Amino acid sequence: MSQINCLAIGCSPRLQGNTSTLLEHAVQGAESGGARCEKIFLRSFKFSPCIACDGCHKEGKCVVKDDMQLIYDKLLTADRLILAAPIFSMGINAMGKALVDRGQRFWATKYILHKPVAPRPEGPERRGIFLSAAGTDLPGVFDCAVRSVKYYYKVLDVKYLNQYCYSKVDTKGEILHHPIALSEVFQAGFDLVSN
Ligand SMILES: Cc1cc2nc3c(=O)[nH]c(=O)nc-3n(C[C@H](O)[C@H](O)[C@H](O)COP(=O)(O)O)c2cc1C
Repeated sequence: MSQINCLAIGCSPRLQGNTSTLLEHAVQGAESGGARCEKIFLRSFKFSPCIACDGCHKEGKCVVKDDMQLIYDKLLTADRLILAAPIFSMGINAMGKALVDRGQRFWATKYILHKPVAPRPEGPERRGIFLSAAGTDLPGVFDCAVRSVKYYYKVLDVKYLNQYCYSKVDTKGEILHHPIALSEVFQAGFDLVSN
């Protein structure tokens, strides 16, 4: 079997923040499982939210010419996806949500044009996980984010495997002191590419 190719996307605006650290550890796990990983951080790209122009309804392509165009191909060719995003205002943070919304072109491909989103007759099943952190432990604090990411993966034809969400992790670097988070996401990354 050819080498698994894994795309890891960090959505937080905070440099070396908690979810970026989770992402780094999950990637290390995936690499130790033999995958080739590419890490990207949305804060390094310039892109707008979806402008609801319906331009993608015709051919399933986004007509907004910004850095999201650089991310689309990576999303379509990845065998595995790791998405890491913090909770802002009880949902996925704005950059993460903009990524999801700009996936409208994939939604249009699937549900308007009735075409396959990421055709791969020979390739392995696409699978993904979601990593998150929240400052509080309010009941349901991860629910909206998990729902958005499950939706996104469904649109992308990526099987959603699991989420790894850590509450009461707020200040920068706090995740480093969490008793299990880093080893758990390392293992999750390893398992994601090994099974
Ligand atoms: C604008 C903003 C909104 C936030 N909203 C919430 C929230 O609704 N609930 C919560 O538990 N934590 C909230 N937090 C805290 C973050 O989830 C927490 O600091 C997290 O560890 C940040 O992850 P990061 O370091 O990867 O950015 C918020 C933080 C910011 C900056």
